[in-house]
Amino acid sequence: MTVCSVLRMGEPLLLAVADEVTAFDTLELHALIQDMEDTMAALDGAGLAAPQIGVSLRVVIFGKEEDRSENLRYPDANSVPYTVLINPKLTFLGHEQEDGLEGCLSVPGLRGIVPRHTHLHYSGFDQYGKWVERTVSDFHARVVQHECDHLDGILYPMRMTDLTTFGYADDIFPDQPLP
Ligand code: NI
Repeated sequence: MTVCSVLRMGEPLLLAVADEVTAFDTLELHALIQDMEDTMAALDGAGLAAPQIGVSLRVVIFGKEEDRSENLRYPDANSVPYTVLINPKLTFLGHEQEDGLEGCLSVPGLRGIVPRHTHLHYSGFDQYGKWVERTVSDFHARVVQHECDHLDGILYPMRMTDLTTFGYADDIFPDQPLP
């Protein structure tokens, strides 16, 4: 169990374009995923990208373990299955976008409304090199866009179009749960 410290906005590494993973099912990659899982769970995040713990590789994890089985029988817009996604590719489906509240472990204490594509297809690999692909919408699509942005050095405030919706969680939208 290793809970890593999460880099905060201002660290240059968060603005870097991360490198592709070239070897799968290695001890190093499994250790990275374990560290990311432990860190995301300890901080109760919706997702985490490797650069946030100081590793500039194109690896993200997102979703909740308990949603793996639940969302099969009881589909829920806010339910995202636990997913490891490496070297991801996103394809937006249509031009529809929607506004939604976001937070980020690298921008602690703050929240903001971010426009994101509503529908997209994503693909990539898991830590064993197995192909992963899904077509998703709404919150699931938002989480994927947020996490994959980290791999290109983009933090959610850089996607905001109305900074009047950016503020401290306790003061702005206090009744809304963190995505
Ligand atoms: Ni983030």
